[in-house]
Amino acid sequence: MKPLYKVAATLVLAGVAGHAAADIKPFEAVEYRKGIFKAVKWHFGAMGDMVKGKAEFDSEDFARRADLLAALSQMPWEGFRPGTYASATSALPVIEDKWEDFTAAGDAFSEKAAALAVAAKGDDMKAIKSAFGATARTCKGCHDDFKD
Ligand code: HEC
Repeated sequence: MKPLYKVAATLVLAGVAGHAAADIKPFEAVEYRKGIFKAVKWHFGAMGDMVKGKAEFDSEDFARRADLLAALSQMPWEGFRPGTYASATSALPVIEDKWEDFTAAGDAFSEKAAALAVAAKGDDMKAIKSAFGATARTCKGCHDDFKD
């Protein structure tokens, strides 16, 4: 058996190098990230209906969706790869040039979604609404700069 630290180092390197990077076609990466955003919309939209009173507020369901959103918020980014801005996408090529700004905007979304998931486990409706609004602003902030 390999010593544990060697196994860990191998995993870290695999993460840095990306998963079977050469085998992924541009359209697959585009479909991947769009699929994640569709799921984001699915849950965030339902949460928005509850926050805005268009649907009855179900705290258990809201918290479940908030947990899913927090996980989803970490997922799209690996689908943004070189050579994936030409077709079937509304992602702007400027993402390539401003990669650090783009990932910072992604991190902001993840942080706000994580805070929303925490707020959702409590019963402070004001805190929940405020955390929801903060998350929504990260969507718009990124779309304004990086989405057609
Ligand atoms: C860091 C940037 C960023 C953040 C944050 C972000 N998005 Fe996006 N989103 C994008 C980009 C870029 C695309 C275009 C993807 C493509 O077409 O390849 C996109 C696409 C989408 C789409 C269209 C998916 C489709 O059907 O093709 C939806 C819906 C969406 N985002 C919703 C959201 C919501 C809701 C949030 C916040 C809860 C959010 N996004 C946060 C960058 C972001």
